Amino acid sequence: MSYKEDFPILKNRDIAYLDSGATTQKPKKVMDAISNFYEKYNANPHRGAYSLSVEATKIYEDTRKKIQKFINARFAEEIIFSKNASESLNLIAYSYGLDNLKKDDEVVISIMEHHSNLVPWQYVTSKTNSKLKYMYINDEYELSEKEIEEKITNKTKIVGITHISNVLGTINKVKEIIKYAHKKGAVVVVDASQSIPHMKIDVQDLDADFLVFSGHKMLAPLGIGVLYGKREILNKMNPFLMGGDMIEYVYEDKTTFAPLPNKFEAGTQNVEGVVGLGAAIDYIESIGYNKIKAIEDEVVEYAKEELSKLEFLELYITPNKENHSAVISFNIKGVHPHDVASILDSQNVCVRSGNHCAQPLMRFLGVDSTCRASFYFYNTKEDVDRLTRGLKKAYAMFEKYIAK
Ligand code: ALA
Repeated sequence: MSYKEDFPILKNRDIAYLDSGATTQKPKKVMDAISNFYEKYNANPHRGAYSLSVEATKIYEDTRKKIQKFINARFAEEIIFSKNASESLNLIAYSYGLDNLKKDDEVVISIMEHHSNLVPWQYVTSKTNSKLKYMYINDEYELSEKEIEEKITNKTKIVGITHISNVLGTINKVKEIIKYAHKKGAVVVVDASQSIPHMKIDVQDLDADFLVFSGHKMLAPLGIGVLYGKREILNKMNPFLMGGDMIEYVYEDKTTFAPLPNKFEAGTQNVEGVVGLGAAIDYIESIGYNKIKAIEDEVVEYAKEELSKLEFLELYITPNKENHSAVISFNIKGVHPHDVASILDSQNVCVRSGNHCAQPLMRFLGVDSTCRASFYFYNTKEDVDRLTRGLKKAYAMFEKYIAK
């Protein structure tokens, strides 16, 4: 049985959707939960004393508790709602980075970071005269222990690391990185955007200081994200955005701020996004990560086998199966990835092409851009076959123009 049945768009459109790394499709259950909220509960949480607003507040705060449980945070107020992972990362960079970095301190990130876990650190290190350093990947597209231990030193104050690369699919050993960084006295920011759709995240087990993700990559609507931070750290941080319900008292000349989590939630929030995220978590839990992984392993393994047979393809994946997730980047040697993606599109196969918001990684790999197929548990081997057929067609069209 395929889970496509639960996703209206996958029944309404004849497509092989292989771009879940950019955004996942949404199950009917998530859509229904949002409609139900608007039909029965819509009001502005934390803004009204009347029952409808109180009920909306309860739904909003209950979802915070659901997320707390989902990622095993110690306290509900450690869960902050944001627009997406990028906004969560900017919050950390501005509110924690700007106030805590001093001249000659170091921030260490990996070369495979998404721009959202890179550009904010460039900005705050330049503002504080601190230094930004990179951990580079080896020939297997992984971070070696040696590289990690060479780059993270006593000067390191912040480490930013993606749990899974959105380009390579490499699963980083974040637990070990966090342990090592803590020994050196650094705090660690984990970008879990590409991991939380696929695997159980336990922030206490990881001992992450901060962890961020976007709802839309895990079946929830666009425009809702989460920042997890350890309470003792969040309590000491200044707010990032100001106004709305994040205040306590406002005087003409000064303001005191609300306690967590409101301190970081300025203005009316994306309540339908929160409701949708809650429904997405329920849906994921009803299937279970073990099942999700089993389906993905089978489909992704099949994809790797089939794509490896195409000699005209260059694949950018680690050979170590246990360190690879559900993303496969590739190029037809000598053909621009946008051209390849267009031919695939004409065959109703949806892949992303471009630099994937990871230009420094592209430069490091020595390419301008790649095509990327990213899978989720609603994908099937038939989707892989459509991709393979589309690639053969693209190669047949471009073969005569490729410089040998
Ligand atoms: N960050 C998303 C991706 O990797 C948009 O495609």
